[in-house]
Amino acid sequence: MTNLDDLLSQAIESFNGIEDAVELEQAKARYLGRTGSLTELLRGLGRLPPEERPAMGSRINQAKEVLEAALNLRRDAIQKKNMEAQLIGEELDVTLPGRGQGIGGLHPITRTLERIESLFHSIGFTVASGPEIETDFYNFTALNIPEHHPARAMHDTFYIEGTTGHLLRTHTSPVQIRYMQNHEPPLKVIAPGRVYRRDSDLTHTPMFHQVEGLWIAENANFSALKGVLSDFMQQFFERDDLRVRFRASFFPFTEPSAEMDIGCVMCSNGCRVCGYTGWLEVLGCGMVHPVVLKHVDIDSEKYIGFAFGLGVERLAMLRYEVNDLRLFFENDLRFLKQFN
Ligand code: DAH
Repeated sequence: MTNLDDLLSQAIESFNGIEDAVELEQAKARYLGRTGSLTELLRGLGRLPPEERPAMGSRINQAKEVLEAALNLRRDAIQKKNMEAQLIGEELDVTLPGRGQGIGGLHPITRTLERIESLFHSIGFTVASGPEIETDFYNFTALNIPEHHPARAMHDTFYIEGTTGHLLRTHTSPVQIRYMQNHEPPLKVIAPGRVYRRDSDLTHTPMFHQVEGLWIAENANFSALKGVLSDFMQQFFERDDLRVRFRASFFPFTEPSAEMDIGCVMCSNGCRVCGYTGWLEVLGCGMVHPVVLKHVDIDSEKYIGFAFGLGVERLAMLRYEVNDLRLFFENDLRFLKQFN
């Protein structure tokens, strides 16, 4: 009988020393399996004298129950320990800063474009668009831009290799031509979009945005031009007292042509932004040249009109007081987030 007691304590001791679930099952097999020590003892019952068998049989069965109970306890303990280790491994550090879910927002140039569009829309302009890949005809010829005009020079224009005179439009003015080909006057339209020039420095990027404007009617005269553009600038900058001036200039597709300046929105008596002049150049404009109207079969004896082209980045920089053009295109979220 000591044999059985020894076996029992030896088994329990071995179970309790095991930390691993698989090892525990192997140990179980060693005692309770088909060839296990306890099973062997049961089999040996037959060799005992018949009167001793029942007592011994019931002792062995009791021992078996004790062993199974010890085994279950150990199993639970190992499982619990594993679970705790797993939980600790997966522990969340709630004090870490969250990664957050970016909500997203509109790019400052998009916001500026939308603002320009809605202001012109409110005074009856529709919005049109044209292709960014243009032909020489629409980008230059139809706009009365002669062969030697600087905008045609290889330096400024991206020509597309392997095509017959296709190029990336250098301005939004070709949309004027496309629109007039497809619409009868009177017409009143703006055309926002991307334009491209081979230029890259502090104040130039190879891609930038313009908004073109065109109003053709029987009475769209120069004073209408001044009125529309002055009102627009005052509303854009939300300043009723914004000063404006028009300086004589030259564009091949307008005659007379002018450049429009606004009083500096950054200072009252001269700063770096306005070059200490108090004035900021904001757009080019003029009365549509009769040669341009002729290209699109509009009778220049009956209709007159004016056009203008403004740089969107320039207006955005002034409105948001951004001092480096390139910031708009670097996609640094720390910069972009400030506009939303
Ligand atoms: N297309 C000109 C440029 O990119 C800007 C411009 C000037 C447009 C006068 C016009 C205009 O419509 O009338 O420099």
